[in-house]
Amino acid sequence: MMARWRTLGLLCVTLLTVESAFAEQPLESAYADKVVPFLKRHCISCHGAEKPKGDVRFDGPAPDLTDPKVSEKWRMARRMLAQGEMPPEGKPRPSADELLAAMNWIEDAAARAAVVTRGGVGRRDRRAGSGNRARSSQGIGRCVGQVIP
Ligand code: HEC
Repeated sequence: MMARWRTLGLLCVTLLTVESAFAEQPLESAYADKVVPFLKRHCISCHGAEKPKGDVRFDGPAPDLTDPKVSEKWRMARRMLAQGEMPPEGKPRPSADELLAAMNWIEDAAARAAVVTRGGVGRRDRRAGSGNRARSSQGIGRCVGQVIP
C-alpha cells in the first residue's frame, strides 16, 4: 500500500513538473514548439495560404489573442478540437497528447490576453503572478483526479 502511494506521489510530482515547465515557457516559443507542428500536421493542408477553407488560416506567427477577431477564431478552433470536428472526418485523428497541448496553449494565451486587456499593462505582472498560482493549484486538482481512482 505504502509503495503504491509512493508511486502515485511520484507520478503526481512528475505531472506537476511537466505542467509548470509548460506554464513557464514563454507563449511564443511554446507556440513554435507545440502548436506549429500540430497545425502543420493536421490543419495547414486546408487552412494555409492557398484557398483556405472557410477563409480561415492557421499558417501565421503566434496569434495575438488580445485582438477580438483573432481571439474569436482561436476560440472556435479550440471548440472544434475539443469536439473532434476538426480535422474533419476521414483525416487522421490527432493523438490525445497533441490535442491537449494545442488546446492548453490556446487556453493559456486566451487567459493571458484577458489579463492584459482587462488589467492594463501596469497591473499585468501582479495579476499574471496570481494567475500562475491559480493554475498550479488547478494542476494539483487535476493531478489528484488522475491518480485517485
Ligand atoms: C480536409 C480539410 C480540412 C482540414 C485538414 C482542417 N479543416 Fe478546418 N475547415 C475545413 C472546411 C471545409 C471548413 C469550412 C466549412 C466548415 O465549417 O465545415 C473549415 C472550417 C474551419 C473553421 C471555421 C469554422 C466556422 O464555423 O467558421 C475552423 C476554426 C477550423 N476549420 C479549424 C481547423 C483546425 C484547427 C484544423 C486542424 C486541427 C482544421 N480546421 C483542419 C476543412 C479542413
